[in-house]
This record gives sequence, structure tokens and C-alpha cells, in this order.
Amino acid sequence: MTVGEVLRRATEHLGKTSETARLDAELLLAHALGRQRIELYTDFDRPLDNGELDGYRELVARRARREPVAYILGEWGFRRLTLAVDPRALIPRPETEIVVERALAHLRGLEAPRVLDVGTGSGAIALAIADEHPDARVTAIDVSPAALSLARENAARTGLTIELLEHDLREGLPGGPYDLVVSNPPYVEPDELPTLMPDVREFEPHLALVGGGATEAVANGALEALVPEGRIVLEVGDGQASATAALLGGLGYADVSTTPDLTGRDRVVEGRRV
Ligand SMILES: C[S@@+](CC[C@H](N)C(=O)[O-])C[C@H]1O[C@@H](n2cnc3c(N)ncnc32)[C@H](O)[C@@H]1O
Repeated sequence: MTVGEVLRRATEHLGKTSETARLDAELLLAHALGRQRIELYTDFDRPLDNGELDGYRELVARRARREPVAYILGEWGFRRLTLAVDPRALIPRPETEIVVERALAHLRGLEAPRVLDVGTGSGAIALAIADEHPDARVTAIDVSPAALSLARENAARTGLTIELLEHDLREGLPGGPYDLVVSNPPYVEPDELPTLMPDVREFEPHLALVGGGATEAVANGALEALVPEGRIVLEVGDGQASATAALLGGLGYADVSTTPDLTGRDRVVEGRRV
């Protein structure tokens, strides 16, 4: 079978369980062959040998069992970085890149700003800020030692320096004062968990998903941890933006505003400590 034929068949098979079957099939085949995805198109008529086919079949079977592509590949792109990803932490999402964009907008022009990333997971937000605002002094916390070990690996992999601390956000936010507190906290309501796609529910850490008041705790904690005029930037779940904006307003934050994700849903809420 040729590259083109294998892709067609894998796409058909994955289409039963994945909304991104063609993309999944291409990413997994590129990974199996040790090539860039774009190279598949110049090699469309190349036959695969048996070893390549077996390796690819195994990856497709994992994806058909709903394992996320990012975990199968073991790495995933976020902003300008390629981060290691595995079940120790949430897979960084495209909407979180907009959280970073809003955070960077507030840091622009500040010299050596202090930044706290609450619930850092793979380290995605903290590392992207350290990468794109190089003199920022970034601290990142998580309650999960497993997530922190992955974030540490990603710091080493990217060569970026951030401070990583094991800390429970419900005990208040450590250190400071910070110019910016940024967070993508867990925000799924416990009763919503069964409604999530199996790819998420059965593979990603529940500690990273289920909220139970984390957003409120970060907003409260940031009041103490921010410098006057410091900013808070929060990712929220679909449909949660207006409640979170009201929460920030009620706590006395000024200039509360929301930013949509690439699909037009309000997913980032921010405010200024007065
Ligand atoms: C939605 S994930 C975000 C991960 C990463 N920041 C990202 O955007 O990809 C939330 C993170 O918060 C962490 N977390 C959950 N409860 C926490 C708590 N009580 N204190 C600190 N971190 C917590 C989880 O371990 C998880 O890594």
C-alpha cells in the first residue's frame, strides 16, 4: 500500500470516532515514518514496507480507542514551543494561546515584570510567556507533583527559566507581588464530566479538568498577590465568561473585559487590580 492509500483507509477508520480523522491519520503517519506531515504529500505514491505498516497500524489503533493524538505523539505545539505532553498534565489547547496573547499585551513595555501562572500543568503558559517576554520573571504553581515534573522537563527541553512550586491555590497564592496573575484553572463542573468527549474524560487528568471553585479562588488570591494596577487574565469554560466577568467586577477589579477564542466564544476574562 502507498502513503496515499494508507491515509485514505486510516481516515475512513478513524472517522468513526474522531472529528479530525484526516488530520489525525496524517499526524500519526508522519510520526510513524519520522517525517514532517507536509512531506507525506510529496511521497504520496511511495509504498510502505511491512515494518512501517505495522508501526502505523498500532498508532491508529490507539487513536481509534480515543487516546488523544498529542499523547500518542508525545509532543504538541503551543505558541512558538514544542512541548512534551503525556497524561501527567492537560494537553495545551489553542484557546490557551489567546490567554498568553492577552498576558503578553499587559506585559508589553514592563521591565522585568513578575508573573504567576496558577495551575501550570505542562508549563505551557509560563514557558510561552518566558519565551516571548524574555526578561519576565515567571513563577508557576501546581498542586500536582506529576504535572510539575512534566513542566520541569519542558523547561529543560526549551531552555527557558521559570520557577516551579508545588502549591495548592486554595491556600492563597504564594510570593509576589506580581504584575500579572494568569491562569487556566480547572473549570468543568463535576456534573459535566460525563458529558465530555471520551478522549478528554478517559485520558486527561481529572484534577486538570474539574473546577470546584478554582476560578473564584484564583480571583480572590490575586487580589492579595497583585501589585496595584496589576492584571489578572483567566481562561474560562464556554458559557462562563459573563459570570466570571461579574465575579471580577464584584471583587473590585476594574477594566474587566472578555476576549473570544478562534471560534468566536468568549473564553478569556481579565481585569485590573485597582
Ligand atoms: C486546566 S489545567 C491547565 C494546565 C495548563 N496551564 C494549560 O493551560 O494547559 C489546570 C491545572 O490546575 C492544576 N490544579 C488543579 N487544582 C489545583 C489546586 N488546588 N492548586 C493548584 N493547581 C491546581 C491541575 O493540576 C492542572 O495542571
